[in-house]
Amino acid sequence: MISLKSIDLSKKKVSNLVVPVCEDAPIHDRKALLSLIEQARIIGNFKGGAKEVLTLYDVPGAKVHRITFIGLGELNKIDLEKLRVFTGKAVRLNADDKQTQLTIAAPVPAKLGVAPDDLFTSLCEGVVLGNHTFSVYKKSEKPGLKKADILTTADLVKACGTVPEKTSAICRGTILARDWVTTPSNDKKPATLATSIKSAASKTGLKVTVLDEKELKQKKFGAMLAVSAGSNNKPRLVILDHKPKKVVKTIVLVGKGVTFDSGGINLKPSAGMELMKSDMAGAAAVAGTLISIATLKPDARVIGVLPLVENMPSGTATRPGDIITSFAGKTVEIGNTDAEGRLILADAIAYANKIYKPDTIIDMATLTGACVMALGEKIAGVFTHNENLARQIVAAGGHTQERCWQMPMPDDYREYMKSKFADICNMSSSRWGGAITAALFLSAFAESVSWAHIDIAGVAYSDKGSDYCGPGGTGFGVRLLNRVIEQMLV
Ligand code: BES
Ligand code: MG
Ligand code: ZN
Repeated sequence: MISLKSIDLSKKKVSNLVVPVCEDAPIHDRKALLSLIEQARIIGNFKGGAKEVLTLYDVPGAKVHRITFIGLGELNKIDLEKLRVFTGKAVRLNADDKQTQLTIAAPVPAKLGVAPDDLFTSLCEGVVLGNHTFSVYKKSEKPGLKKADILTTADLVKACGTVPEKTSAICRGTILARDWVTTPSNDKKPATLATSIKSAASKTGLKVTVLDEKELKQKKFGAMLAVSAGSNNKPRLVILDHKPKKVVKTIVLVGKGVTFDSGGINLKPSAGMELMKSDMAGAAAVAGTLISIATLKPDARVIGVLPLVENMPSGTATRPGDIITSFAGKTVEIGNTDAEGRLILADAIAYANKIYKPDTIIDMATLTGACVMALGEKIAGVFTHNENLARQIVAAGGHTQERCWQMPMPDDYREYMKSKFADICNMSSSRWGGAITAALFLSAFAESVSWAHIDIAGVAYSDKGSDYCGPGGTGFGVRLLNRVIEQMLV
């Protein structure tokens, strides 16, 4: 859908062009563009301010039918995120205007002080992600563009020609994750979601294994089974395996896959409960990541482990006060059936550790409301005892604008997770610091492996959407995890 092109604007006709403009400095050096920008200034009083947009048709002297100028504001405030927002806006504007294709004039990388690869990656991300809408159920949803070209020099097309393909592979994973998260829970019961993930993953060449309830019982996934006990919709464990010939590292990604979190017997209040369809966003992000990885083929074995369950109240549901035996053999007292995410993750982490003996485990989960309290809806929490891993995750998130903030894991808070009758309790005895005590619970099952937990409860779903993400699942984590893995291998 997207490619880099070096078209001569004075020779070739372009039907629909978008030109980004800064208010205080030129960011283009082609004569044709500079003269078009000058015309926009004269005809439309267009200055390039942050929110300015101007569309002109058939400007004299140019072979362009429709041109939209989009203001980027001040040059020194431009970063990669501004570029994503710019192309995201450009695509939405044009798609909503029933356009089917678009040519985007890329700024000169050196004028922005960014590396060409990063510049084109960000422009492509805004285009591909901004073009996506969730249109399964609503008949009036507008379709996106069919094609977008990014206009730059022949040299840069040569140097960065593979960027669109690579970025599209990662964005495809992001979009899959978004769609899975936005899909309502009646259409993504654990078995259905497992099938949907399997079908997308198999196409890319990943090895897919799905364990059903019988196999989970045989293998003693006690914590996972305790969570799913109340639901008629039986659990699944999906394993996605990228196993290349050359393996420098083995990395396991674990994703929380609660297809609906009613809270169980500790039923959640009504307000906002519908958002708990998104409680499988960790699993969706991990599945999306593995699907991109299968295309990009890094020299690492990457395994996605996805426990999929539904948390429901019923006559067969696990009760508060029950004591269960987890996969690891540790007994867990159920202090609260709504603290279900840590239970399924505990089993998945312990299983991954035992079977794959990975160098690193990263889990991603919509784990706690407390994390949303602490960091809000745009920043995820990172919990790990491995400072280097924390730095890598935070740095990757800064680059992709999937922002992460490292949170503490104080040893003395373990006290709060003690149970009088079992090895550990899933509920803290303190009202406070719930994101931390949840992470400490998980760490008890990660044992000595290098492990990090990313709490995405705040960032996984957006009711309103943003410049390159429609309302619904955000796909948070797919670009982040791809970058973390890429950086681990350099
Ligand atoms: N799925 C929720 C966490 C959540 C909250 C995700 C808000 C997205 C948005 C999780 O299973 C949960 O219910 N956590 C409880 C834990 C508590 C019972 C210890 C919470 O955060 O209140
Ligand atoms: Mg819950
Ligand atoms: Zn949950």
